[in-house]
Amino acid sequence: MDLFLLSFATILTIIIYVFFKYFFAKPKEKIPPGTFGWPIIGETIQFFISLYYGMVHEFVQERTKKYNSHVFKTSLLGQKVVIFSGPAANKFIFTQGNKLIIGWRPKSVQKLFPSTSFVPIEHDTKRAHNVISYLLNSQNVERLISTMDNMSHLHLKNHWKGKNEVIVYDLVKLFTFSLSIRAFIGIEESDKILNLYEKFKIFTQGLLAVDINLPRTTFYKAMKAGNELRKQMKVIIKQRRAELSENPNLSKVDVLTQMINEQDKDGKYMTEVEIEDKVFGFIIGSYDTTATTITLTMKYLQQMPEFFNEIIQEQNEISMQMMPRKELCWNDIQKMRKTWRFVNEVLRNTPVVQGIFREAIEDFTYEDFYIPKGWKIYLSFGATQKNGEYFPNPTKFDPSRFEGNGQVPYTSVPFGGGHRMCPGKEFARILILVFLHHLLKNFRWEPKVPSEKILYPFFLLAIPTDGYPITLSAV
Ligand code: HEM
Repeated sequence: MDLFLLSFATILTIIIYVFFKYFFAKPKEKIPPGTFGWPIIGETIQFFISLYYGMVHEFVQERTKKYNSHVFKTSLLGQKVVIFSGPAANKFIFTQGNKLIIGWRPKSVQKLFPSTSFVPIEHDTKRAHNVISYLLNSQNVERLISTMDNMSHLHLKNHWKGKNEVIVYDLVKLFTFSLSIRAFIGIEESDKILNLYEKFKIFTQGLLAVDINLPRTTFYKAMKAGNELRKQMKVIIKQRRAELSENPNLSKVDVLTQMINEQDKDGKYMTEVEIEDKVFGFIIGSYDTTATTITLTMKYLQQMPEFFNEIIQEQNEISMQMMPRKELCWNDIQKMRKTWRFVNEVLRNTPVVQGIFREAIEDFTYEDFYIPKGWKIYLSFGATQKNGEYFPNPTKFDPSRFEGNGQVPYTSVPFGGGHRMCPGKEFARILILVFLHHLLKNFRWEPKVPSEKILYPFFLLAIPTDGYPITLSAV
């Protein structure tokens, strides 16, 4: 009898368990399709090779087709990663607050920017936008354009005029760096700028290096350059604070003054380390990106005589209308529509930044897929920008795509979008247009290496392999 009761109880328990499991239990979460690839290595090699060759869009498009999904999983550098593409994904990622997803900083970046350990990433963006909008407000923007105008003119006069050959990327990078240093920390002396330039080059190389701080490693050299830069910044900050306390209305309109004066909602000022990190972030975010964009634009312009002539005509008309005024102003920049559409098409075709990394800080669902907390996210810009569904005949170079309100929202996003959109977008637009205006007014060029490739050597930014060497002729 006991045996009978025991068997009965066991069978009943099994039935109840099965019943609850299948009818009441939470359905199993559906994670995105895809593969984690080889143990530890995952799909790192395929991904980084395509990143290097500017082909991440192909890596993404192939898998999107294979899994029939704009979101799929993979594994990179031992991390579980979900890759997103398409305008809906762009919108989703850009418009998330910081509750589900935050920016992802590799360990090397965390060590090179010590304030990241105590300043939440979301504060960076808000402060960066506040600071830059000060440079661009209606009172200050004309002054900024005047600085860009004078510096472009001088740079071309000193480094391009009278030369038969130049390496564009090297020269333009020095120009955009000098301009950033002037606009962000008010330094004008060329020897000081050159000294900072050399140190920043070493510092920047550490950003994506393995964070091993042993002599002779890239990371060690970057840390050392970072410490030297910090020493110099401390002197500059001290000096500026003294100037400001003597004269609170000091007319130095630059990022540094604004950072020193900037208070958060509780009236707290930024610490010295925070100011240093933010200034470094601004400098690094600005000079390489704008130099690359100018170099790529020159390369495309030279290959497209029909657009080149249209743009020359636009710039000549602006020069005529300016007379007798010599310096460009805000209204002139607004008239450079064709030139800016051309630059937009350059950035769609060859995104300076191919995509962005984020991290899920909570579990969330997207299109019915469950993304667990801790997984990394990669949002591919290129896969959307080169998708025929949003840009018909995507390999064709066609600036008219950007006429009127032509493009679907969240399709071409070279500067990101939403609350973390690049704070330097407008600064970059003005700088690129001012420089191109002076360049086109004075020079024509031919490439010395017509078959030169564009690669992403540090997996970060697009760069012509030889720096775009050209032969120059004056107009
Ligand atoms: C053509 C030139 C440029 C391109 C293509 C570009 C692109 C981008 C992109 C894609 C991001 C990441 C956005 C995100 O994470 O959602 C970014 C961030 C950033 N950019 Fe730019 N950028 C350019 C120029 C500039 C300039 C001129 C400045 C400075 C004036 C600047 C300062 C920054 C900063 C500080 C961040 C980090 C913002 C944050 O962490 O929230 N950028 N940029």
